Amino acid sequence: MKDIYILAIETSCDETSIAIVKNGKNVEALTISTQMQTHAKYGGVVPEIASRMHTENITLVLEETLKKTNLKISDMDAIAVAYKPGLLGSLLVGIEFAKVLAYIYQKPLIKVNHLIGHIYANAINNELKFPLLALVVSGGHTELVIMKDNYNFELLGATKDDAIGEAFDKVARILDIPYPGGPGIEKLALEGNSTYNLPIPVMDETFDFSYSGLKSYIINLVHNEKQKGNEINRKNLAASFQKAAVEELTRKVNLALKKTNIKNLIVAGGVSANRYLRERLKEITEINNAKLFIPDFIYCTDNAAMIGAAAYPLFLNKEFADFSLNAESQANVC
Ligand code: KG4
Ligand code: ZN
Repeated sequence: MKDIYILAIETSCDETSIAIVKNGKNVEALTISTQMQTHAKYGGVVPEIASRMHTENITLVLEETLKKTNLKISDMDAIAVAYKPGLLGSLLVGIEFAKVLAYIYQKPLIKVNHLIGHIYANAINNELKFPLLALVVSGGHTELVIMKDNYNFELLGATKDDAIGEAFDKVARILDIPYPGGPGIEKLALEGNSTYNLPIPVMDETFDFSYSGLKSYIINLVHNEKQKGNEINRKNLAASFQKAAVEELTRKVNLALKKTNIKNLIVAGGVSANRYLRERLKEITEINNAKLFIPDFIYCTDNAAMIGAAAYPLFLNKEFADFSLNAESQANVC
């Protein structure tokens, strides 16, 4: 069969990224232009600045990506773009850019759910083995999904309140760790020990998660200690939070592996870059005689290669979008 090349675009939040992906798994070129340092000044992503920076950067990111290969846009079989969920203004920059390329070069347009993109980051340099359990842990989502085949999703559980990444970011803020908080907490936790006795979020037998209780407990603890003039041990509190937050995931994943008897676990989304989480999931999968798949670090956080990987099964099914394609701010995997 002829090789299929997809030019993929990702602009859902604060990374402008373009990739060329061959056959849904070989990354021929990838560029990620992050705006993190700009947003760090404000303690979080400022939507208006994000979309303006995407507009400024996107053509340069395309140019840089093309320079990394001998391929031209005319060699592409399709143009793929993340269209939900995310910041509307940011998504629209990528969508309009994708439409223009598809129109000028007469290529099919493929719309990709960003969260499904995170899942398909596991297909890069790899083959997805079905049935599988997918744990989606990002800034806005915490979901446990069963996949019996490509694009066959069944929601097993999800967060009832905050997403795990959001909890990392909010706790980081109270500990004066700059945005984005996840990597900062991980670093600080390495220097501390889990000495604080924190509530483990949900102790029931469902597959749902909860993070708002843990987050609020820490915010109150820090405020109360500050008011009393007591010193907070930031390193130990970071380590204690990370342990409790991850414990909530591993307990539910363990339950899901046992109850479903599925033997493949894949992890998706920015929080999957966390080394402590990776280690704990390795233990849980080994106990359950299951296999663990986690993307390389570069494909864990937002990037366009995962959008190219997720677009491939849609290309094979000829599921193309038309030029009425619009952005959607909210979405789940299914
Ligand atoms: O998937 P992602 O890049 O963007 C979204 O789609 O949301 O995820 C971003 C989230 C942020 O909350 C960030 O703090 C978290 O992933 N994150 C981490 C780590 N790296 C990124 N959380 C914990 N440990 C990390 N090493
Ligand atoms: Zn993401």
